[in-house]
Amino acid sequence: MQTDFLVIGSGIAGLTYALKVAEARPDKHVTVITKAQADETNTKYAQGGIAGVWDDDTDSFDKHIEDTLIAGDGLCNTEVVEIVVKEGPQRIREIIDWGARFDKDPDGDYSLGKEGGHSVNRILHHKDVTGKEMERALLQKIQSLPNIQLINYWFVVDIITQHHLGYLVTKATLDIECYGVYVLNLRTNSIEKILSKVTVLATGGNGQVYRTTTNPKIATGDGVAMVYRAKGRIENMEFIQFHPTALFQPGVSPSFLITEAVRGDGGILRNKNGEAFMERYDERKDLAPRDIVARAIDNEMKKGGTEHVYLDCRHMDIDKFKHHFPNIYEKCLSIGIDVSQHMIPVAPAAHYSCGGIKTDEMGRTSIRNLYACGECASTGLHGANRLASNSLLEAMVFGHRAYLDSLEEVNKMEISSPTGGGREGAIPDWHDVGTSEPKEMILITQSLKELQLVMSDYVGIVRTDVRLARAMKRLDLLYHETEDLYRTTHVSSYLLELRNLITVGYLIVKGAEFRKESRGLHYNTDHPAKSHLVENIVL
Ligand code: FAD
Ligand code: SIN
Repeated sequence: MQTDFLVIGSGIAGLTYALKVAEARPDKHVTVITKAQADETNTKYAQGGIAGVWDDDTDSFDKHIEDTLIAGDGLCNTEVVEIVVKEGPQRIREIIDWGARFDKDPDGDYSLGKEGGHSVNRILHHKDVTGKEMERALLQKIQSLPNIQLINYWFVVDIITQHHLGYLVTKATLDIECYGVYVLNLRTNSIEKILSKVTVLATGGNGQVYRTTTNPKIATGDGVAMVYRAKGRIENMEFIQFHPTALFQPGVSPSFLITEAVRGDGGILRNKNGEAFMERYDERKDLAPRDIVARAIDNEMKKGGTEHVYLDCRHMDIDKFKHHFPNIYEKCLSIGIDVSQHMIPVAPAAHYSCGGIKTDEMGRTSIRNLYACGECASTGLHGANRLASNSLLEAMVFGHRAYLDSLEEVNKMEISSPTGGGREGAIPDWHDVGTSEPKEMILITQSLKELQLVMSDYVGIVRTDVRLARAMKRLDLLYHETEDLYRTTHVSSYLLELRNLITVGYLIVKGAEFRKESRGLHYNTDHPAKSHLVENIVL
């Protein structure tokens, strides 16, 4: 199969890119592939909304830039922050034009919510199901573009580079090129080859590497793992954001999120004694940036010997609550919690990966013809900690920028004729001779459980050198066992996801080991201070 533009992922980043490129080049073929149902994405579960400077009377670009930089704790790329904040409102207007509906006040102005780390109200939302609404609008819009083909249940295994032509490719190779991907067709169980001029990774996050996460099952860091295997650059993986308030429901995965917007509307965190503890940790109290709130909750849970704290909404206007958060209200009620009378048990859960595939300001990765956008990318916006509701915005801004850049580039590219050095040769089909059907699923499921436990227990909100060293040893064993399986059995999505998650776990631990300081989301009690050397860790 051949295509001009190959987009991997059908969340907000992939679809924004695909829509734009397909509209601009009706003569070109755009293929979007996804390993699940098209709408099964992190995007669909976004609750709070999308941040953007909307009300000039109360807000300004400078304020949004400053809030983002403060949350990022010294590691944001200021140029990228300015780009995203300034281009953001235009991108939001576009998705409104494509049919996304955001809530309005009775006077007809957009209703702007507030979340942790934001100095003013600037979050556009659709009730508490903003992502679902945005995903709906995007999927509907792509149906109007005949040159986009959307294929579900195709699982990308690896990107194709010179390595597959028999050349030696290492981290030191400067001209690594992407020619397309190998993909497992989950309906036929066969591996196909897709050759493309431009490939865009929009594969989302990696929350599934932890036992407790708000991320759906698809969030297994596949794009990051693929680029790492292809010897591309990966950055700042140690900065995993734990959302402070996931509904505490032991054994339920993924965890249901209680959006930060509930605290924005007045919800108060309390410990088991009913004490509103946030004032002891930060003057911004419940609306401090997420790293601070999550660490405070972690500390209260450890001190009190509890598995959760509470979010108290009993004092809030219940009609307003039901209007703004109908999904949360219903979910709580379904498990016997009437938020007007009971406090909601909440605990932190892995939520967002701030690092990822390193890109420049146009979404270009270190591999030629390969772009990355959305949560799988590390653009420099988030630094050491993402400001709430900045990720949907970043995905749209970088989907747009990658589109602008690749529109120029595509004319220079040929399918399956590697450029740069005059190399030629057919790209081989997938080779799995000698492999057999996996006999025991337990070898995969148990390893996944072990991985998630190791990451949660040793590489969570608070880290130490000893815990990280232990985690690395355990990951090493899991890595070797899983590579053996990969070499000897037919691949399945379960095995591929396990393999990718182990790579992601390794990259998180490696980044954490390199960072001999505590900054943003990375807190190591053996190195509690910030280093004077402010740097990104590139692996
Ligand atoms: P996703 O939307 O996750 O899409 C990834 C796509 O890649 C999927 O289609 C998947 O199937 C596909 N894929 C992955 N691997 C492969 C593979 N190997 N082969 C083929 N396809 C593959 N951010 C905000 O800004 N505001 C919010 O209010 C907000 N709330 C959130 C609430 C929750 C519960 C969660 C989980 C996240 C929230 N976030 C929020 C974060 C935000 O939703 C995500 O960062 C963003 O949606 C990611 O979009 P994306 O397009 O990069 O990836
Ligand atoms: C939330 O609604 O609290 C999540 C927002 C985000 O992750 O940006």
